[in-house]
Amino acid sequence: MNLLITGGAGFIGSHVVRRFVLNYPNYQIFNLDALTYAGNLENLKDIDSKENYNFIKGDINDMPFISELFQEHQFDGVIHLAAESHVDRSISDPLDFVQTNVVGTVNILNAFKSCNENNFEGKRFYHVSTDEVYGTLGKDGLFTEQTPYDPRSPYAASKASSDHLVRAYGETYDMPYVISNCSNNYGEYQFPEKLIPLFINNIINNRSLPVYGDGDYTRDWLYVKDHAIAIDHIFHKGKNHETYNIGGFNEWKNLDLVKLLCSLMDQKLGRAKGSSEKLITFIEDRPGHDKRYAIDASKLNKELGWTPSVTFEKGLSKTIDWFLENKKWLENVISGDYVEYYQKQYTQ
Ligand code: NAD
Ligand code: DAU
Repeated sequence: MNLLITGGAGFIGSHVVRRFVLNYPNYQIFNLDALTYAGNLENLKDIDSKENYNFIKGDINDMPFISELFQEHQFDGVIHLAAESHVDRSISDPLDFVQTNVVGTVNILNAFKSCNENNFEGKRFYHVSTDEVYGTLGKDGLFTEQTPYDPRSPYAASKASSDHLVRAYGETYDMPYVISNCSNNYGEYQFPEKLIPLFINNIINNRSLPVYGDGDYTRDWLYVKDHAIAIDHIFHKGKNHETYNIGGFNEWKNLDLVKLLCSLMDQKLGRAKGSSEKLITFIEDRPGHDKRYAIDASKLNKELGWTPSVTFEKGLSKTIDWFLENKKWLENVISGDYVEYYQKQYTQ
């Protein structure tokens, strides 16, 4: 099988690429990534000399290049992760999100469609999406696969749009597809613009911890390797034209999570109890901040037997250890453009 994974140099993509390269030596894995600020080949250093791994630097917005790539390799499967992924950046630059997440996805769909000439026997298009397409929850309830779409940030709207387009290609051209909508991931190699790695880095450097609003927002956290396992199950055993929600059964209010992180960091850094918590600073809220996300992942559990393999406390502890042991990786990604981004986002 020739399998294309887009966005494989990013956070989740690198875990998916590693899993497929190591577990399926008879597949040729092609990692297509534009290496934006979020893409980093350091994430894959341990597997990049494997015989079944191929890296291709390229932009999903470059249609002539994408068409040629599909004609050359005749991919049997696509796992599409390439996207702009950070909500805050989508608030300042929505058009970048429409371009990559919507138009880029249509480019990949078109290339897959034309190189198969509408005969998709044995082929599969897997679109990796987010729970943010469902909008926001009140105190109760969970997002199920039947929850109506109600995206509320430019990022969420661009992902919702790409989901609709994948389903439209499924109906119109009979393209075999699966979609998964996952909750918040955390783990090794996550870019420190997202809550957990940002705060780990700030605690290491004794910088303030910028909590949006009053911190009374809830997210459902999943260890990234468990997401990669879920993607493996769905790619191989999921039913065509179906959607699967993926979540951690693990809701945390932001402020409680930050306090847990502070106490684990105090222990691991040998600092006095309570010292990291003193860095917490409440800052202006994110515009349109979704109150609560929580996923009902029972379909994936019942139909494909998937369940998260690590508890949040264990996953978080492993994640912190990784960041403490990989300071060089962290230093490399927080230089250059990151400094400018940080100042723009957090200096009010
Ligand atoms: P990320 O930002 O870490 O990585 C995105 C990758 O896509 C990067 O390697 C980047 O270089 C690449 N990319 C961006 N634009 C590209 C382009 N035009 N052409 C080719 N490559 C391009 O993102 P992530 O957090 O790993 O998320 C991966 C996917 O999973 C996204 O589709 C995201 O919407 C989805 N998702 C993320 C989460 C999460 O918690 N991070 C949860 C659910 C779903
Ligand atoms: O739910 C899945 C989504 O999770 C993915 O689709 C996105 O790609 C991913 O970025 C993530 O989106 P969030 O907006 O939930 O993640 P983020 O880490 O940016 O924020 C998590 C929560 O923490 C959110 O309520 C905002 C808050 N926050 C975040 C940052 C960066 C802060 O309070 N302060 C911060 O500095």
